[in-house]
Amino acid sequence: MVLTFSDSEYSNRQSAFLDNLPENSIVLIPTNPRSVRSNDTHYPFRANSYMLYLCGWSESDSVWMASNLSGTWSTSLFVPPQDTKAEIWEGRRAGPEGAANNWPVDSAYSIADLLEVVSPMIEDSEHIFCIDGLNSEIDSILQDCGMDILDPKKHLDSLRVIKSEAEIELMRKSAELASDAHILAMRAGKPGVGEWHLQSIIESCFTSNRAQWAYPSIVGGGENAAILHYNSNQDPVADGELVLIDAGCEVEGYASDITRTWPVNGKFTEAQKEIYELVLKSQIAAIEACQAGAKWSSFHEASSRIIAKGLLDLGILDCTLEEAIGDPLEFDGQYRKYFMHGTGHFLGLDVHDVGGGRQGDNDPGPELKPGMIVTVEPGLYFGSWRTDVKIPERYAGIGVRIEDDILITEDGPVVLTSSCPKEISELEEIIGQMR
Ligand code: GLY
Ligand code: MN
Ligand code: MN
Repeated sequence: MVLTFSDSEYSNRQSAFLDNLPENSIVLIPTNPRSVRSNDTHYPFRANSYMLYLCGWSESDSVWMASNLSGTWSTSLFVPPQDTKAEIWEGRRAGPEGAANNWPVDSAYSIADLLEVVSPMIEDSEHIFCIDGLNSEIDSILQDCGMDILDPKKHLDSLRVIKSEAEIELMRKSAELASDAHILAMRAGKPGVGEWHLQSIIESCFTSNRAQWAYPSIVGGGENAAILHYNSNQDPVADGELVLIDAGCEVEGYASDITRTWPVNGKFTEAQKEIYELVLKSQIAAIEACQAGAKWSSFHEASSRIIAKGLLDLGILDCTLEEAIGDPLEFDGQYRKYFMHGTGHFLGLDVHDVGGGRQGDNDPGPELKPGMIVTVEPGLYFGSWRTDVKIPERYAGIGVRIEDDILITEDGPVVLTSSCPKEISELEEIIGQMR
């Protein structure tokens, strides 16, 4: 196994994190638990993003620990011990010796020694930082120790949200690979194509490039495009319908997240075009609002103002402009009947990455800073089955979302997914080229 980043990248991250913590502290960061898929079969394991961030360790059943009880910080990994019989079934393990020699930590132990090593340290420490809910053994030791357990995430999140040059490079690769995958799916568009078939084209592009999906791919044709988290992908897409594909990959842990919506027969109807052009206009305005120094809420405000005005102009909303827009900080305009999610989120090791966003009504959220990467993804959804709102007949069954990945820089927003077409003329030209 090769580490994703240089030793110095990891040691910079560890120092930036640990140097802000008090004396006499210990920090415990467990990796994710394994999850059962069926009987004795597990989902493919994916390490915890904080673990990947701090030391790149990707085996299961492991814990990263740091302590400054001796006066200076030292770091350790607790890892599965080498065990030939287990390794025959489950795969090779680095073991404590391999971990200590090849990973950016000072020492390593078998995970079986966790209790024995950590318990006396807990007794000697004044501050314990731990991410709970990941490792039941640690949770129960800490429950019994009688101390307040502090959450290290806010210290780590403020670091993770600003990407280093090396991280930006990987995220660029991830964005470009996902763009290529979407283009291959567009080329395979034709009436009657299965949602599952488009999914297989996208995911085969990921796999054949040694990447994997960052989240279950959404391939929704027709009415399914109006279901925000649709991912059963089992219906054929009929002539005349749009298909919405929200799919991104993970390259060495780093996610991309792209949505494109296009007519499966290669030609938008007038009604589809009206909705698509409105979403596109709002998306372009929101990207432009992704300026260093702007507040998080500013790009949602940019997209929602355009959507609100457009819904009035198309006769979909019947209210004043003020009512359509609502209070920009409360996200309560009439437009939310058809655009019911936020305009974006941070992107990184997690597809919905750390860094915050709005913490409730009236919070404009954090300031956008160079090195942050966000998605911009407005949408409009007119599922004809909905009973909560009136669905205009002309637009019934239409769902459109357009999503790009944006790097914030001093010189303005950089669209990492710019190679993925989204203009109507570009889409109409490329769809069905494989027919
Ligand atoms: N693919 C999940 C999202 O767009 O947020
Ligand atoms: Mn997204
Ligand atoms: Mn998405």
